Amino acid sequence: MTKSSQREWLIAPGPASKELAINIARNVGADILYIDSKIFPDGESYFRIINDVRNKRVAIVQSTYPPVDRHISQLLFLAHKLSEDGAEVHAIIPYLAYARQHRAFLQGEVVSLGVFAHLLRSVGVKRVVTVDIHNVEGLGLFSMPAYSVSAIPLLAEYFSKNHTLSEAVAISPDFGGSVRVEAFARILKINHIVLEKVRDRTTGEIIFKDVAKQVQNKDVILVDDIISSGKTMELAAMKLKEWGAKRIFATCTHPLLVEDALDRIKKAGFEEVIGTNTIPSPVSKIDVAPILASYLSTL
Ligand code: R5P
Repeated sequence: MTKSSQREWLIAPGPASKELAINIARNVGADILYIDSKIFPDGESYFRIINDVRNKRVAIVQSTYPPVDRHISQLLFLAHKLSEDGAEVHAIIPYLAYARQHRAFLQGEVVSLGVFAHLLRSVGVKRVVTVDIHNVEGLGLFSMPAYSVSAIPLLAEYFSKNHTLSEAVAISPDFGGSVRVEAFARILKINHIVLEKVRDRTTGEIIFKDVAKQVQNKDVILVDDIISSGKTMELAAMKLKEWGAKRIFATCTHPLLVEDALDRIKKAGFEEVIGTNTIPSPVSKIDVAPILASYLSTL
């Protein structure tokens, strides 16, 4: 056994991910750090940590779903305090906000993920772990070790346990999801297609190229990293129905489900929508704690 694998973890539950942090601690066999926290009426967050964390290896679990900037501030406050108190701080950020802005797509855009990475560094974070980062290129913006574990095997396992699929096809709504959909399809031993989605970066309008021949009379599973407004899934479902698909399922790692997204996808006629608990939501049916815990166990 190496020296590092003998060191125990202390799990610090951030306000956004208390339940998930407890599950990770249980899976890894680690203690949970007690954090006194509250939110003042004006929206400011308050934290107090009284336990001794000197020389301890602490993993803060804090997902950065909406309210995004509050959850980021909370993560930064906790990391700063724990570093100041002498802990070796690791940040588990199950849903990594701003991962879709890992570069400037239009001239003059802020590379928000780069700023977030810089802030994490400035408060002493020594390592970042996330789940299914939107684009692995984003990991390159971190100046400390940064790693993305994949929930795709868990999503695939859910389908093999819960559904008998007929001639199923896994579909990524865009090119960016190619690696994810391929991995998903390989596990289920089914075919996969990457839809050609074109999104106008100014108006947000999406158009898909026809794949009717490949989906007619087949069960289809749309696989994406994020369902945010639900518009991508809604439009894909509409097209797939037009192209003669049988049952349509949607699965994603991060069910952001902003505003009326849940209603939108319910109305779109999906057989089932399945997400993970990187973000708590009515469709967060899959627990990512085992994959995060098993990653921590390798360190
Ligand atoms: C985009 O490239 C992502 O992979 C998702 O397809 C996108 O974030 C989904 O967004 P929405 O649900 O708002 O269409």
